[in-house]
Amino acid sequence: HLYAVILAGGSGTRFWPLSRHLYPKQLLRIMGDDTLIQQTMRRVLGSVDPGRVLISTNPAQAESIRVQLGEWKDRLEGNFVIEPEGRNTAPAIGLAALEVVRRDPDGVMVILPADHVVKGEARFQAAVRLGATLAEAGHLVTFGIKPIRPETGYGYIQPKRAPRLGKEGKLAGYPVARFVEKPDARTAARYLKAGTFYWNSGMFVWKAATILEEIDKHQPALGRGLGRIKQLLDAGASRSDIDGLYRGLPSVSIDTGVMERSAHAAMIPVDFQWSDVGNWSSIEEVAPQDQAGNVINGKVVDLDSRNSIIYADRRLVATIGLSDMVVVDTPDATLVCPKERSQDVKKVVEILRKQK
Ligand code: GDD
Ligand code: MG
Repeated sequence: HLYAVILAGGSGTRFWPLSRHLYPKQLLRIMGDDTLIQQTMRRVLGSVDPGRVLISTNPAQAESIRVQLGEWKDRLEGNFVIEPEGRNTAPAIGLAALEVVRRDPDGVMVILPADHVVKGEARFQAAVRLGATLAEAGHLVTFGIKPIRPETGYGYIQPKRAPRLGKEGKLAGYPVARFVEKPDARTAARYLKAGTFYWNSGMFVWKAATILEEIDKHQPALGRGLGRIKQLLDAGASRSDIDGLYRGLPSVSIDTGVMERSAHAAMIPVDFQWSDVGNWSSIEEVAPQDQAGNVINGKVVDLDSRNSIIYADRRLVATIGLSDMVVVDTPDATLVCPKERSQDVKKVVEILRKQK
């Protein structure tokens, strides 16, 4: 059977003032009527039965997520995999894999970050289908995105040209020659220029049993910890015993912990539109723009602005003649900054944290 795991445990502060500590990006209505996690849920239901969608998160976020996914409440009952605290993606994926294996030893899992924007549902679903076929054959499948800038916040994947591992319509899968997580700026520029690298989308498809084996192999301490958690789960141990063990797991991402090291990685170059919407300025990769290149949301009266991002959460916002600016207004905080300084929003959040 095909399972989905929605990763929704990250914190994310780069969408301040819309995002807050307990209200990260996946819970925001950044574009469209649905929040990003609702969009992720709807997208995955084209491929996976709702009863087989697992939500991986922590106690601080679980309640808001339950509310936002209320539409599927009955089917999601018992599908929340709750970590006592974030230990990064490798332990989170490992814990979810234990649950999949418990339900189906041959289960295949699609890992989906809760906070990405994807356009082109049919193409996404075709990629998931091919991914599942390759996963059945033991591959750790990644979806490769054609890079358009020397981004240092992503993983880079260089596929081998041959052998082709499988195909589905226009899509095909290839073995991975190299997986490099978050290279420095010079390396990223070199990869972009080489033209043979793809961005790692952060979505994965693999058999739960395969990823557990690969964790054992490349992260033995994490593998042993997960093994003990499995014994406790099998023995019907208490929540607090399992939580205690989880807190002691090494904190490592699946990208550096497993994907950079595995010999079984495969990549499907995908053709759907994708963005990890990492900060305010990246909104324009995915949100509709008006003729002057503005992304405008909410109650806004604008005169003559160009290439700007203007968000009004509750109040009326009026803007005149802006170019390349970001304006985000919420009831208790307002952000105004040049688009090219969007990355620095996280510095504001750091300052606010220290003041508390
Ligand atoms: N449950 C849970 N627990 N989820 C987590 C945790 C955790 O401890 N840590 C992060 N997540 C979730 C985040 O909410 C997000 O949805 C997803 O896992 C990925 O984590 P990020 O922290 O956003 O990773 P990243 O963006 O730095 O890098 C990853 O994604 C890039 C593409 O967006 C990597 O896979 C890169 O290689 C990739 O290019
Ligand atoms: Mg991310």
